[in-house]
Amino acid sequence: MSEGSLDDDRILAVLREVMDPELHDNIVDLGMVRSAYQQDQTAHVTIALTTAGCPLRATIKRDCESRVGSLPGIDNVQLHWDELTPAERTRVMDRARSHARASATPTQIPASARVISVASGKGGVGKSTVTVNLASALASKSFTVGILDADIWGFSVPRMLGVDSRLSARPANSGEERGKIIPVELPEGSGLIKLVSTGLMVDTEETALMWRGLMLAKALEQFLHDVAWGELDYLLIDMPPGTGDVQMALARLLPQAEMLVITTPALNAQKVAVRVADMARRSHMPVVGVIENMSAFVTPDGISWALFGEGGGQRLADNIGVPLLGSIPLEPAVSSGGDNGRPIALDGGPASQAFQDIASLIVNEISPPINMDECSASSMAEVPVTFRSK
Ligand SMILES: Nc1ncnc2c1ncn2[C@@H]1O[C@H](COP(=O)(O)OP(=O)(O)OP(=O)(O)O)[C@@H](O)[C@H]1O
Ligand SMILES: [Mg+2]
Repeated sequence: MSEGSLDDDRILAVLREVMDPELHDNIVDLGMVRSAYQQDQTAHVTIALTTAGCPLRATIKRDCESRVGSLPGIDNVQLHWDELTPAERTRVMDRARSHARASATPTQIPASARVISVASGKGGVGKSTVTVNLASALASKSFTVGILDADIWGFSVPRMLGVDSRLSARPANSGEERGKIIPVELPEGSGLIKLVSTGLMVDTEETALMWRGLMLAKALEQFLHDVAWGELDYLLIDMPPGTGDVQMALARLLPQAEMLVITTPALNAQKVAVRVADMARRSHMPVVGVIENMSAFVTPDGISWALFGEGGGQRLADNIGVPLLGSIPLEPAVSSGGDNGRPIALDGGPASQAFQDIASLIVNEISPPINMDECSASSMAEVPVTFRSK
């Protein structure tokens, strides 16, 4: 083997050993290597990252340099960085998702359910409020909607839906479902909400504290494996504040999940966009849209009160390349509806209308229900889930 005769294929071969630890695949097969060639004793490698600020850049750099640098005839490794285009990023995420799907163990969530995780780059922006109101709006349109309260120790969904009953389990003689937890059911017109939350299991503050000792991911896993969810058109997941463990656990357990991002009008769009993009990347979850909450309230005589600023939702949507699905005005009735356990989505008014309009958009365009009657596939891998590009 003469020095300098190394061809691109041999550099590519060692780059195939460089794994993206979050996407669980090598950077060549993921399509992240733009070019790899040798000039004199220097290897030039261009790698496109999912986002310029990718936190794994340093790990990938170290791994590439040591592997390519150890090839005979290479004295120097020059790494060049690029960013994947939105279409390339979608392909990468699709690939990572199909890997995750192949290795995920089946849950009790039917393959035909649309799974939407309600997340944000910042706490207190209205994730739980949006979750319960969208669920109510979808149920009022005759759908069966599960709500999984993934805010394991900060649960607020039971209060917002006025539920104070406790979860029970299927009796021993109920066949395959014996011992499974039964969600609390709330009929809404001809639709139905099915709720599971740690708030329906803990009786006292002390018991709540015990849950802190539980691994978050374990609790989530239990909610997906040990609950008899039954039939569902939608499953909405109320995410806890923060972008870490729960999001990643959810992606591993439910690779079909899509993400809905909630924001306020006054945000630093750029900063939040980086956080959301990072969250989507780590969980390889497609973001289907942004909802702006606490937007300007317009009085019946047309006066607009933009108490929390304007335009943040659109800016964030533009930054991450997804549609703005709607804006929910800041309205005292939204908050009192949450406190009284009666979601405003059912009671009329501007905020109620906004929730109903977003629910219609989800049903008709963003995440239409999957009709299994017309689908011959029996496994999730074959269900025609459309993943949106970012
Ligand atoms: N459009 C709105 N108008 C008025 N009040 C609102 C609106 N949206 C949310 N709120 C109120 O703001 C507070 C925070 O909302 P919520 O608990 O839904 O946020 P969150 O993102 O789930 O918070 P956390 O990150 O702590 O889980 C609540 O008291 C809620 O009633
Ligand atoms: Mg919340």
